[in-house]
Amino acid sequence: MSERWTPDSWRAKPVVQIPDYPNAKALAEVEAQLATFPPLVFAGEARNLKRALGRVAAGEAFLLQGGDCAESFAEHGANNIRDFFRVLLQMAVVLTYAGALPVVKVGRIAGQFAKPRSSPTEKINGVELPSYRGDIVNDIAFTAEARTPDPQRQLMAYRQSAATLNLLRAFATGGFANLGSVHQWMLGFIKDSQQSRRYKELADRISDALNFMRACGLNLESHPELRATDIYTSHEALLLGYEQAFTRVDSTTGDWYATSGHMIWIGDRTRQLDHGHVEYFRGIKNPIGLKCGPSLKADELLRLIDVLNPDNEPGRLTLINRFGSDKIGDHLPSLIRAVQREGHAVVWSCDPMHGNTITSSNGYKTRPFDRVLSEVKSFFAIHAAEGTHAGGVHLEMTGQDVTECIGGARAITDEDLNDRYHTVCDPRLNAEQSIDMAFLIAELLKQDRGNKLKSMPAVAGL
Ligand code: PEP
Ligand code: CO
Repeated sequence: MSERWTPDSWRAKPVVQIPDYPNAKALAEVEAQLATFPPLVFAGEARNLKRALGRVAAGEAFLLQGGDCAESFAEHGANNIRDFFRVLLQMAVVLTYAGALPVVKVGRIAGQFAKPRSSPTEKINGVELPSYRGDIVNDIAFTAEARTPDPQRQLMAYRQSAATLNLLRAFATGGFANLGSVHQWMLGFIKDSQQSRRYKELADRISDALNFMRACGLNLESHPELRATDIYTSHEALLLGYEQAFTRVDSTTGDWYATSGHMIWIGDRTRQLDHGHVEYFRGIKNPIGLKCGPSLKADELLRLIDVLNPDNEPGRLTLINRFGSDKIGDHLPSLIRAVQREGHAVVWSCDPMHGNTITSSNGYKTRPFDRVLSEVKSFFAIHAAEGTHAGGVHLEMTGQDVTECIGGARAITDEDLNDRYHTVCDPRLNAEQSIDMAFLIAELLKQDRGNKLKSMPAVAGL
């Protein structure tokens, strides 16, 4: 691994989960075109996120990462983006208040298109076709034509990412995220629910605190932390040809950055030490994530950390654990101990989604809310026992009123999944379940931070 790194050095290594394009020339042309397009994010922003994640690693902030399993071309629209942003803001407020800690907000958005699959093909009624791999690769329709990987889709994914990010930036800084608007973030369809009442109570307390500060003579309008917020983008950097096209040198430092998103992560299926994905990631300076599933052994993790974060830079590496509610107890403690023993600074984040997927009685891929919550609870308990920081959560969620995960306050049943099952990939928490989850995580955070912080509401750093 000590060989020279270049943005294309991954090409000399084996890779898995990258589709075979039937027309290599057409793919190369698209990649060459993408390489001329403007970057989506800037190195300075990625550095700011890394700094914020460094605070998470030190236990001084909490990471909230979430969004669609896979963004789709069909669902691209302003309302979707706004509703997602609103729910994320609400969750961040709930967590900030409870934990008295800044919450670092990272969306699985503006680039989260490419999907690894457990099987390269899908069989329906005796017909076998290539699996759907996300809208950046092929179409979900079950025809040979739709399922053929088409490089032109990468251009569309880039344009959609740019438009999504543009709107997110406007929402974050243009007044929508002003803490004074905390009451207005409630989504219409959640009104009159238990979550909306709890949220309103919290929003009232925040408004009171703001009024109090105003009465004390503070000019809140002059505080950018209250008027605007930071939201960062992230995705699984699976399609390395696309990523290579957006790998650019930062003119201020001379370092290479992935400019397709602020943070990118390595999936659980593509983290082989000698493969192309790890090779690509070692050379870029962004904050990165590494999915850690049940098959990851402690010594393998340590070798990966040596390659991916050789300078032990806090905030560079987020370990996103996704074991399953029944397996986390067998796996996480030994990984934590190994990382602690070697003195590595990492962010520990819990993805309670990917280890808790089941098939419902009527054939839907779903996730029980209780199992998701149970994995998060174990995550907090294990970190408390090990003396380490439960740094954050990584959720598949949406701002829409879908029925994809069962359970939650409204007790969605197997039969309900039929109603509004919209995901093109994995089941997501809907808006109400997401806010519900935030309140439950807030309880865990509050316990974690202890009584002294309980009486010290933080309103800044949203
Ligand atoms: C995902 O995050 O959508 C995903 C595919 O996760 P994992 O790599 O952990 O299976
Ligand atoms: Co997923």
